[in-house]
Amino acid sequence: MKAFVYDIPVKVYFGENQLGNLGQELKRFGTRILLTYGGGSIKKSGLYEKVVREIRSAGLKLYELSGVEPNPRIETVREGAGMCKEKQIDAVLAVGGGSTIDAAKFIAAGACADCDPWDFLAEGTPVKKALPVITVLTLAATGSEMDPYGVITNLQTNEKLGGGAPALVPKVSFLDPTVTYTVSKYQTACGSADILSHLMEEYFDMNQDLYMLDGVMEVLMKTVIRYTPVALEKPDDYEARANLMWASSWAINGFVVGASKPEWSCHPMEHELSAFYDITHGLGLAILTPRWLRYCLDETTVSKYVQFGVNVFGIDRSLPSMEIANKAIGELEHFLFDVMGLARTLGEVNIEEEHFKAMAQKACCGKEIRGFKTLTPADVEKIYQMCR
Ligand code: NZQ
Ligand code: ZN
Repeated sequence: MKAFVYDIPVKVYFGENQLGNLGQELKRFGTRILLTYGGGSIKKSGLYEKVVREIRSAGLKLYELSGVEPNPRIETVREGAGMCKEKQIDAVLAVGGGSTIDAAKFIAAGACADCDPWDFLAEGTPVKKALPVITVLTLAATGSEMDPYGVITNLQTNEKLGGGAPALVPKVSFLDPTVTYTVSKYQTACGSADILSHLMEEYFDMNQDLYMLDGVMEVLMKTVIRYTPVALEKPDDYEARANLMWASSWAINGFVVGASKPEWSCHPMEHELSAFYDITHGLGLAILTPRWLRYCLDETTVSKYVQFGVNVFGIDRSLPSMEIANKAIGELEHFLFDVMGLARTLGEVNIEEEHFKAMAQKACCGKEIRGFKTLTPADVEKIYQMCR
């Protein structure tokens, strides 16, 4: 393990009936609250009413920004940042999935800056300050509830860009597994594919020995593989939803990062799919990940696949290494496409090769992705081709 700093100061309320603490928590940050949410799932589920009741009974003043899009748009972030300035908002409360939370983070940053919020993402303008962000998570997937990152889309320029800063870490997050009972099968599967990918991006690394952290990642991956089918079969299974929710936070809250390699691989490739085609993040990752694994498999990397295959999928350790590696990729494909029912190819989601070259260049920022294996734009293009 190399040197690293672990500092994720998020207060988490986990479990059912914790929302009664929302008012008192919000009060710590001021009296004027901007509530952000997505396209209406929280109204259908009744969560909206509970949240508003909490805010009102704490005597706080409520402002609202609804309609945050999946793959949240920069226009919505600009609108929210403008509202914060105009209404002198003290804290931003995001009730939703990763999209709503990510948008809230950059709204909170935009509220404290003179620049266009897009500059934080496209120009590398550092986020020095942000309003406090409080979250009520409704979908187990991105880990945004406990991490310092956000990803925003600009469809005008076909860009989906991520950024992060300590100021963007939520101050308090409410994780009630019962609010995820209403998540569709499709979004449940996409969320699980995202959690798995966050773990695999860290786990597949040849450069260091991370015995303890590898073990934690393996059990988190096994948690996703064990409980997603249960949640798909029985959406209101508390244990399944609880395990998925907590795994989503721990996959990316900094704990398993033993001193990361410079870059992730599948995420930059996926963000281009979302930027060009507005597809669901987890679906893009599901299609890409097994192909990326196949592309990176050779004599120099096979030992990591063996560890993965044996420890996560229980494959017989006595088999030849390459056989274990290929079986492991096969098991992963079976989980993603057969068990969870996600589309297997880009063709199935109407993505043809038209933009592969441009997307590959952008995924590599014109240079290369220095991940598990270094990937040039030509490599990335080949991986996109393998997904057709
Ligand atoms: O908008 P509403 O009506 O709320 O519906 C949402 C949306 O349509 C629905 N949903 C959420 N909770 C629900 C529910 N439906 C029923 N019941 C509930 N309880 O699900 C749909 C997808 O929501 P979204 O927030 O887009 O999903 P997710 O949490 O997967 O977030 C995806 C976004 O996060 C980014 C992705 O790139 C993508 O833009 N990521 C953020 C990361 C981070 N902050 O660290 C890391 C990730 O790798 C990822 O890039
Ligand atoms: Zn992700």
